[in-house]
Amino acid sequence: MENWPTSHDRVLAQRNAEGWMFLIEAARDLRTTGAIAPSSGALARLLTDPVQDQGMRSLNVLEAGAGTGSVTRTLIPRLSPGSRLDIVEANARFASRLRRLVRTHPRLVGHGERVRVHHALVEQLETGRPYDVIVSGLPFTNFAPAQVETIMSRYMELLHPGGTLTYFAYRGTRYARALTASRAEARRHRAVEEVLAAYQRRYAVGRWTVWGNLPPANVWQLRRPLSASAPAALNTTAGVAQ
Ligand SMILES: C[S@@+](CC[C@H](N)C(=O)[O-])C[C@H]1O[C@@H](n2cnc3c(N)ncnc32)[C@H](O)[C@@H]1O
Repeated sequence: MENWPTSHDRVLAQRNAEGWMFLIEAARDLRTTGAIAPSSGALARLLTDPVQDQGMRSLNVLEAGAGTGSVTRTLIPRLSPGSRLDIVEANARFASRLRRLVRTHPRLVGHGERVRVHHALVEQLETGRPYDVIVSGLPFTNFAPAQVETIMSRYMELLHPGGTLTYFAYRGTRYARALTASRAEARRHRAVEEVLAAYQRRYAVGRWTVWGNLPPANVWQLRRPLSASAPAALNTTAGVAQ
């Protein structure tokens, strides 16, 4: 009991520091950071459920766009023994924070080699291993449609047949953008949604809304079919704004 206020205070201080870091990075580059606050616990749990659902099977897992590690912290305790996790993050300051998280995480003592942090763009990542689960935190609706197409087709290629991808999209952003941004920006946003919709039509196995997040978000789960051949890119960006 005596220790409780101390560890509670430590968690609050860590959340505060994380929140500030996120805000500072968002102010530096909102397009890449894609949010003003880290994901909530509810969103992190839903995104990482496919890892938990596999029970004790050893998995290869990829987390893309891990930020300050709010999803990573939920993911690590859910990894079964023998599982490996690659974390890829484009922002150097976030990547170094993630390295510290991995070095100091109590569940990884003596097993740190199972988790690697890559400071890179996910579309350029080459780890040479296919994944059972990919968890994506990328802010797709801030990207060009062609980049989203590249990343989505790379995700499907990186998944084992039967493997799953989860990602989220904040609710209401299209309307907010239509009201506040230029016509070209609104068109770009719609084109990105069309790219994502084509992947959803082809591969989606679930969709949920998380109201307990700032802002509320939709979570999508996609599955690569069990057929042996690698899925072809859907080429959804032909004829839409880049
Ligand atoms: C919306 S934040 C999500 C952070 C964290 N997963 C969370 O849910 O709190 C998006 C993150 O993706 C990273 N990012 C953006 N583009 C990326 C890319 N092409 N490859 C890897 N990371 C990227 C950003 O730096 C940022 O940390």
